[in-house]
Amino acid sequence: MARAGMPRKFVFVCINERPEEHPRPSCIRRGSAGLFEAFREQTGAYGLVDIKVVASGCLEPCMVGPAVYVAPDDVWYGGVTVEDVPRIVEDHLRDDQPVEFLRISREEFELSPLAGRSDLPPGEIPPV
Ligand code: FES
Repeated sequence: MARAGMPRKFVFVCINERPEEHPRPSCIRRGSAGLFEAFREQTGAYGLVDIKVVASGCLEPCMVGPAVYVAPDDVWYGGVTVEDVPRIVEDHLRDDQPVEFLRISREEFELSPLAGRSDLPPGEIPPV
């Protein structure tokens, strides 16, 4: 049981925005602001006071966004819509059963343009 004030899970919802002409997509252009609000509303509706919904910057799997990451479960979701939120809240956040069909596979995650960029000097991060 979670201690008072300590969230049992964190739900990171990417709300990163890039210019439309940027080569990498951004989750906010795929509706993640609505997702963030829907997660907040749905967790509240279920009284899940030990679930913390966090608006996040880029989480990395931009190509399959909108991206959502649930910690400490280490579960990644991609292509999430507002219609998917009640199921994630009920099955995963309330009942601890991740919604398998929305999970991002390792292959999908690595569609990221930054994957394999080990040639970059340490500390140098390409523009996101
Ligand atoms: S912009 Fe959302 S994961 Fe990168």
